Amino acid sequence: MDAQGKTVVLFACFGVRPEPWLAAFDQTAPDFDWRVWPDSGAKEEVDYVVVWAQPDGFLRQFPNLRAVLCIGAGVDRILQDSDLPDVPIARMRDAGLTQGMVEFVLARVLHYHRLMPAYEAQQREGVWRQLAAPLAGERTVGILGLGQLGGACATRLAANGFSVRGWSRTPKDLPGVAAFDGPIEVFLEPCEVVVCLLPLTPATRGVLNARTLSHLSGASLINVGRGAHLVEADLIPALDAGHLSNATLDVFATEPLPAGHPFWSDPRITVTPHASALTPPGTAGPTIVANIRRHLAGEALLDLVDRDAGY
Ligand code: GLV
Repeated sequence: MDAQGKTVVLFACFGVRPEPWLAAFDQTAPDFDWRVWPDSGAKEEVDYVVVWAQPDGFLRQFPNLRAVLCIGAGVDRILQDSDLPDVPIARMRDAGLTQGMVEFVLARVLHYHRLMPAYEAQQREGVWRQLAAPLAGERTVGILGLGQLGGACATRLAANGFSVRGWSRTPKDLPGVAAFDGPIEVFLEPCEVVVCLLPLTPATRGVLNARTLSHLSGASLINVGRGAHLVEADLIPALDAGHLSNATLDVFATEPLPAGHPFWSDPRITVTPHASALTPPGTAGPTIVANIRRHLAGEALLDLVDRDAGY
């Protein structure tokens, strides 16, 4: 709290432009004292931190911190902090973020479903040949992770007529989605498109690897989870072996993807710069403010992170 008794919220989102966020915050909560890292003022005045990609140990420096609010849906980076203060953490759940992810995944699934890579290859060769695409209902799409984003993508793909199956740690009941919580190898067998939207936890790190990918036959992979879900060294061999035909990668073990990395130039791989669903400040700013107001009123934060589960 500052000297005037206002709630102090520090915006500390590394690599994120603060201006659009501050515009959204100022509109919704002019009564808070908003600060932007590194201009935090007195550290003991900071009540809440809105965070992204913080350096290790960063949050520990605010002795009166009441809660942490993440601008992303995935909180793995926060939970990896080796000196994390014992305060509640909220992940981002936002209609704009979800819509962005649904659009991205739907666009890529339709791209693969309607054989666009084959037409692009034909065009490079000047070939005019019609290819028969199956109907959506004959196409099996597997979604790894049925949380807020995976669940929304799964139901949207099902509404588009695809045959959708979803794999999650705890069983989920979603309209039109065949839920599965057994071994991932069995889940993957019939999938022609695989979308990874798992949270990154010790249990899901490296879940896409030579062994699991070998259960696919010519599938397309869309990784919009985290880079560390995929054992990157196993991807090109899986493409060469025909387990995969294509991959869209939005997330990488090292971001930005280093210059000269083989993924940049492989025509079977589409690289996007962790941009599948950027959190829109216009909708997410008010979401964060509403959550802080709840907490100030003595209620639990919404979308609280379960530290044991890791998400
Ligand atoms: C982006 O990576 C997010 O976690 O929302």
